[in-house]
Amino acid sequence: MKILVVKNKDELSRKSAEAIIDTVKQNPSAVLGLATGGTPLGTYQNLIRDRQENKTTYQRITTFNLDEYVGLDESHPNSYHQYMRTNLFDHLDIPRENTFLPDGTASDLEREANRYDKLIESRGGIHLQILGIGENGHIGFNEPGTPFSSQTHIVELTESTRKANARYFSSLDEVPTHAITMGIASIMKAKKILLLVSGEKKSQALYEVLHGNITEQVPATALRNHPALTIIADEAAFQNMPRQAGQLIFQ
Ligand code: PGA
Repeated sequence: MKILVVKNKDELSRKSAEAIIDTVKQNPSAVLGLATGGTPLGTYQNLIRDRQENKTTYQRITTFNLDEYVGLDESHPNSYHQYMRTNLFDHLDIPRENTFLPDGTASDLEREANRYDKLIESRGGIHLQILGIGENGHIGFNEPGTPFSSQTHIVELTESTRKANARYFSSLDEVPTHAITMGIASIMKAKKILLLVSGEKKSQALYEVLHGNITEQVPATALRNHPALTIIADEAAFQNMPRQAGQLIFQ
């Protein structure tokens, strides 16, 4: 595992965007695994700026997102389909048909979950997976207790995740109760993983990833077994484990 300590969220956003741009330049047909949430927003803004200034092209890139809420139509303002369009896809030259998210409105959700894993495989698997982390250590919507062997599946969201995401909805009641998410085994199949961790609220989860027992109770600890994991984390996320920006740590 490689850990890059950065000063703050801005630097995290720049460094993570650089990692994505490098991947896209090295392999213009790369398959990217993308995440939603607050953490990668700055990453996406940097990709958009780079596209405007340097004309990096995404014409042959394919993307797979980690998850989608169950019951939200893709045009729903809080759907992850919509998040990705607004915050990234609409500003790149990526063909819409190369961007994939699970369909949270599928009539047979289990079948949709299976289809999604097969679709990823049929595109040759994910080269670089971007991940955020939940305060409880979740990755994607894999909540504590999710088997490490899980493929894409339907989950019931925990109260803490629904509360954390309520900021995007007009009330907690509107936050969906279920989601469809790539499983931990599906995520671990990515050739490279880039985990982004920012802010004090994530410091316990980061501590568990770095030093805790590898346990299904903290889903992100599975990542310690990944052969090509890079973590970019800011100083605030290292609360109680003081680190200085610029440090590159190999574990
Ligand atoms: P955040 O969410 O980036 O909005 O903090 C991350 C996550 O819950 O996986």
